[in-house]
Amino acid sequence: MTTNAENAASSDIVDIVQDPAIAEIRISEAQLQARVCELADALSADYAGKCPVLVGILRGSIMFLADLLRYLDMPLEIDFLAISSYVGRDSSGVVRLLKDLDRSITGKHVVLVEDIIDTGLTLNYVLRILRARAPASLEVCSLLDKPARRLVEQQIKYVGFHIPDVFVVGYGLDYNQRYRNLPFIGSLRMP
Ligand code: IMP
Repeated sequence: MTTNAENAASSDIVDIVQDPAIAEIRISEAQLQARVCELADALSADYAGKCPVLVGILRGSIMFLADLLRYLDMPLEIDFLAISSYVGRDSSGVVRLLKDLDRSITGKHVVLVEDIIDTGLTLNYVLRILRARAPASLEVCSLLDKPARRLVEQQIKYVGFHIPDVFVVGYGLDYNQRYRNLPFIGSLRMP
């Protein structure tokens, strides 16, 4: 027997999937969870004995970071940066810092947690800011990588999935602030 909460949750998801704007599910919830678990294993091995600071970039990285944290059984800290760069589908190319870190990262091992690297402009900007603060180390962990649109090359040590040049939503990623709550990554049918 299903509970009201279960019925409500599944019918919400069906409603969203039936949203004509969602063209298809590209990465399922199970695939996401399996890969996030593997990334957490890699981080646990590489940062054993250290206490890394995981820096999430708001708002797209929230689901990825939250799941990653659940799989990381080690001492760590988290902090957040908020960046604005996109309105709608295309990058304006102008990146602004909306919220800075709450704590110093000087001398700390920092892992920047991103939802997706597209042109690389946002990452380039954020890495410049963080490097100037002299962390002990600085690596990038991005759920998605869309290399076809790259304008600025950066080394991304941990990548969940490489995807083609399609606009995707869900699992934290949005289109005009919608669809972040989908538990999977879907592609959007663009007019
Ligand atoms: P970049 O500066 O072009 O690399 O863009 C990075 C940011 O753009 C990401 O953190 C996302 O917020 C957003 N973005 C890029 N591609 C997509 C997409 O396919 N769906 C949703 N957001 C995207």
